[in-house]
Amino acid sequence: MTNNATVEKATADLYSDCFARLNEWTDESWLKQGEMLYQNLGLTDEKVKGKKCMDGGCGHGTLSYQLLKHGAGEEYGVDLHKTLKVGMFEKYNNMHFTQASLLSLPFENNTFDLIVSNGVLHHTVDSLACFKEFVRVVKPGGRIILGVYGKHGLFPYVLWVARLFTVKFPIIPKSVGKKLIDILGLDPMIRYQLLDYLYVPCLERYSPKEILQDFFAAKGMKEARRVYGLTEEDSKRYRDAKTVYTYDPRDITSKLLFGYGFIVVEGVK
Ligand SMILES: C[S@@+](CC[C@H](N)C(=O)[O-])C[C@H]1O[C@@H](n2cnc3c(N)ncnc32)[C@H](O)[C@@H]1O
Repeated sequence: MTNNATVEKATADLYSDCFARLNEWTDESWLKQGEMLYQNLGLTDEKVKGKKCMDGGCGHGTLSYQLLKHGAGEEYGVDLHKTLKVGMFEKYNNMHFTQASLLSLPFENNTFDLIVSNGVLHHTVDSLACFKEFVRVVKPGGRIILGVYGKHGLFPYVLWVARLFTVKFPIIPKSVGKKLIDILGLDPMIRYQLLDYLYVPCLERYSPKEILQDFFAAKGMKEARRVYGLTEEDSKRYRDAKTVYTYDPRDITSKLLFGYGFIVVEGVK
């Protein structure tokens, strides 16, 4: 196996395990998470209805489901592993799951009207190569919407230190960390987040300027802009629903804890 293939296998194994347990969530929590992601990415019926869409790194499919619910013509969920929530997609014969790496997509040039990818690029071995693939398979006039981790803030710095012992010099390897986490019998979302943050092999962070310039502008995408889909009140409502933690990246708590926060950028080819 090449080094990239080894890293992708470790990434697939980690998320497959995380999402399998997260699928124990009630349908209601699963749907609520999808609604939050849809809103956070600034998606609207106008951007989705009748469109041929791809959800890059679809995980357990919460966002793919929302695209279908909002009238996507065709929806392609692509991921390294298949962990779509069982039973949720049966009524949609326009949902297609493709098991593939985003670094080498099995689609022709200019295939999709809309590509969304939430929380994925920063976990790939080569995020710019992945973005280039998105640009290749989106149609001229089609849209790409990305959600990626922002730099700075207290939490990323603490996490960086913790990952020295879990990923860089794995004194506490995943097998041990996972056992400890499982002994604690945590809620599946907290378990997911702990395993994800501590053991995902690749974790990059960006500034909004880097995403706008080095990704969107550098690859010829137009009208690129940062999107703020959630207000402070929306974020609180979703936090209260206990499905996810989420902050409006403009609010002061988020700035202190998460720096640039979760950065959403959209642009048109
Ligand atoms: C943090 S999860 C996000 C899942 C989903 N987009 C969401 O927002 O719930 C990252 C997902 O990206 C997938 N992924 C990471 N690297 C990938 C790659 N090179 N090709 C395809 N999928 C990848 C993982 O398997 C995982 O399901």
